[in-house]
This record gives sequence, structure tokens and C-alpha cells, in this order.
Amino acid sequence: MTMDTQTTDALVVGAGIAGLAAALEADRQGADVTLVTKAERPEEASTWWAQGGIAVTRDDPEQFAADIHDASAGTADPDAVDALVDDADDAVRDILVETLGVEFDTNGDGYDYGQEAAHDEPRILHVDAATGKHVHVPFLNYVADETDVRIREDTAALELIRHEGRVYGAMLEHDGEWAPTFAGTTVLATGGIGALYPRSTNPDDATGDGIAMAALAGADVADMEYVQFHPTAYDGDGEDTFLISEAVRGEGAILRNGTGERFMPDYHADAELAPRDVVARAVKTEREETGEVVLDVSGIDFESVFPDLAEKCADNGVALPEIPVAPAEHFLCGGINVDDRGQTTLDRLYAVGECARTGVHGANRLASTSLLEGLVWGRRAGEAASGFEPQEIEAPELLDRDPALPDNFAREKFHRLRRVMDERVGIERTTDGLQRAQSVLRRLKGEVDAYARTRTSRSLYELRSAAVVSLLVARAASENDESVGCHYLVEETDAPAADAD
Ligand code: SIN
Repeated sequence: MTMDTQTTDALVVGAGIAGLAAALEADRQGADVTLVTKAERPEEASTWWAQGGIAVTRDDPEQFAADIHDASAGTADPDAVDALVDDADDAVRDILVETLGVEFDTNGDGYDYGQEAAHDEPRILHVDAATGKHVHVPFLNYVADETDVRIREDTAALELIRHEGRVYGAMLEHDGEWAPTFAGTTVLATGGIGALYPRSTNPDDATGDGIAMAALAGADVADMEYVQFHPTAYDGDGEDTFLISEAVRGEGAILRNGTGERFMPDYHADAELAPRDVVARAVKTEREETGEVVLDVSGIDFESVFPDLAEKCADNGVALPEIPVAPAEHFLCGGINVDDRGQTTLDRLYAVGECARTGVHGANRLASTSLLEGLVWGRRAGEAASGFEPQEIEAPELLDRDPALPDNFAREKFHRLRRVMDERVGIERTTDGLQRAQSVLRRLKGEVDAYARTRTSRSLYELRSAAVVSLLVARAASENDESVGCHYLVEETDAPAADAD
């Protein structure tokens, strides 16, 4: 594929559930849609990795809404929560069941609803506890085969084309070549920010591109300090990390510390099913104090209920029934500020899925609401973003690559960035640590900016995205002096001076 200047009615950036839902809906509305994705394989989207499933109302929308508000410590936006709950069942039925034919697990009584932390009742639809791939693969195939949406893989959108508060499309890159695509509307669905942390449940390339592009173009972002850490990721060596679904605790698995003691009842009345931020902090504390934490699955039929996970454990040499676990970055609750149709504060720019801040999650997200949010807001934004014609304006000028750029520049800067985010902007934060993180990150961003204005590699643009978004997270965290949900401030300690350079 060569890169030429192109036009389209709606340009969707990202091929997870939110981007696919937006593309599908815009196509249904008769728009000419182009969907671009950095990914070359479905596994490169966070949606593919989702395990637990997708929450529905089970005819009790009030209770579902109440659970979302409770998990967010009362900080979720009531209108956004109502929008999610109102559309939930219809979006799941319309797209997942009737259009894609996803067969959620059943038992003798109908759907086999799963239980997860902070849900008042079992209400999670799932497939084999590997729901993401059972939704994502058919969705990609459907959009590719059954709609007129043009999909361009291995293609990154790393700069918005904008003029006076309006977005006209994006500069796209494929195989080192760049060209503008002009669009009536642009929908960002670029996912999360896992690449900013050394341990994450996200795919490797979750560098926050959409958030960085939108923020640099002048769009509002909000709630960036609310980075959710999942309490139970496999505690392997760095890159071996993988999610051990909350559904495993929902089924009855328990957490034990290095002395073999079950500790969660000492932290919260709901024990292993306490809100996620509470469990994540408890796991962190117990690991530090007793050396390790394991998820004990001896009381459940792990292999038959969670075959995919059992296989991953076997591949990693885990001696069941005890799985070593540690918290890992999992989900950004904030992001690009949008309204109930996914409209950002810039004209013709929409955002959906994890890169968007709808207000549904407030300071802490309830489990198994992210696929649902992507589906609901994707559908809404896809409809709202239809009916606009593209217009060509002058595209940003991209200069030639700086020959002085060392080959390992991006790798080294990423390493430093992750270390600072982990130690200063992680599960627990201090006022002083956040100040120090900002000064390191500001310096790092300055170094990156000097090169990223040039026509250069995708990895450098990803590094620029990561630097911009890290600064947004650290700054928002230092401006919020209230510990709530995922943002947790502790007294100063003698923290290691990892960020001294
Ligand atoms: C999980 O399966 O534990 C993750 C579910 C979620 O983050 O919504």
C-alpha cells in the first residue's frame, strides 16, 4: 500500500470494540468510513485481551447504576451512568448478539452471568472467561467482510490536521511514509496507556496516541490521575505479565500473603470482592511486607471454568493451585473529555473507548464496564459523526529525519519514563514524588520534542505520545490533593531516587 492523500466522511482511529462500533454505526448511517489501526494482528487491541466480560442490567438498571456509583466512590457523572445503563442491553443485543452472533456462555437457566468485584449480583456476560477475543475477532471480520468500511492496518494516525478549533482529519503513517487523510469527522478510539508503566495488562503499543494528539490539538482532557491498577496480574518477569481475571475471585479464589495467610477480610468487608483499588493496594502492601502474594484457586474448579488461564499458567510454569500475583496498570478512567455522543471540545473530533473520558467511571471503574462503554459510546459517536463532508486544508509540514538521532533513543527514554511513572505516579503517590516526576517528565518531553517534530519513525511519535500523556497524568495527580478511587496519596517516605539522572 502506498500513502496518498485521501478523503473520507468519517475517519476512525483504532480497531478495538469502540472503534469498530463507531465504524459500524457510521457505515449503517451511510457514511463513507475509513478505519485505521496501528495493529497488524487482532491481539494488538486491548479488547482482545478482555477476560471477565460485559456487564448488562438484568432488568435492574437502578442497581447496576448504583454499583457503578459506589465503585467510583460517588464520583461518576450521573448523566453518563444513566446513558450507559439505558443503552446497555440494547447495544449488546443489537451488535454482539444479533449482528455478530456472539454466543455467551449459558447454563440450564439461560445466560450464565458471572460475578465480579463490587457488583451487587452476577450480571457479567462472558465466553470462556476469554470474552475479548470471542467478541473482537467476529467484530473485525464482520466490519471487514459485511460493511463498506475501508480498513487500513499497520497504519498510525499520529497528528491531527486542525485549524481554528476544528479537526479536518489526520496525518497517517504506514511503512515510514506519511500522507494526510481529510475527513468530515475524526473519531479517536486509540485505547489506553499501559505502555507508560513497566507492568500492564494492555498490549505493548498502548501509548496513549489519541489522548496526546487531542491534547496537543487543544481538546480538553480530564480525570487523568485516575489510572486503575488491576490487583491480580501474573507476577512473572516483566513482559510475562498477564491478567488473572476478577472472575476467578468471583468464582471463589482467595488471596494469601507470603506467610500463607488470607488477608483481604482484614482490609474490607467484601474481602477479595472489594473495589478494585482497595484490593490492588492491599496486594501491594502484603507483597512488600511478606514477600509475595498468591491467588489460591484450590477451592474452585479452575481448569474447567478458566481453561485459557489454566493453559497460560501451564505455559509459564505456574505450580497450581497457587498463582503468584501482583498489581499491574490496567485502565485509564479519564481521558479526552466527551459528551454523551462522544463529541470532544473540538469541532468534528470525537473520542470513544478507553481514550475518552465519558464520566462513567469517575475515580474508579466498576469491573466489566469497559467493553460496554466502548460499545455504547461507539454506537452513539458513530451516529453523531455521520453526515459531514471532508474538506481539504493545508496539512502540517513534516521535516526530514534528524541524522543525529541515536538508534536507541526511543528505547532508553521509554525505559526512564516507565521507571518514573512506576515509582512516582503508581498505585500510591506522594506530593513530593509527583513534583519530582513532573520535572523529570518535562525534561524528557523537551528532549523528545526536539526530534518528534521531524518526519521520523513511528516509535518516536509513540514516545512523544507517552511523554505527553505521562505529564498529563502526573500533573493531574499533583493538582488533586484528595485521595479518592485510583488516586491515592500517602505520606512522604524515603522513596528510591530512581528518577535522579
Ligand atoms: C477482569 O477480568 O478482571 C477485568 C475486567 C475488567 O477490567 O473490566
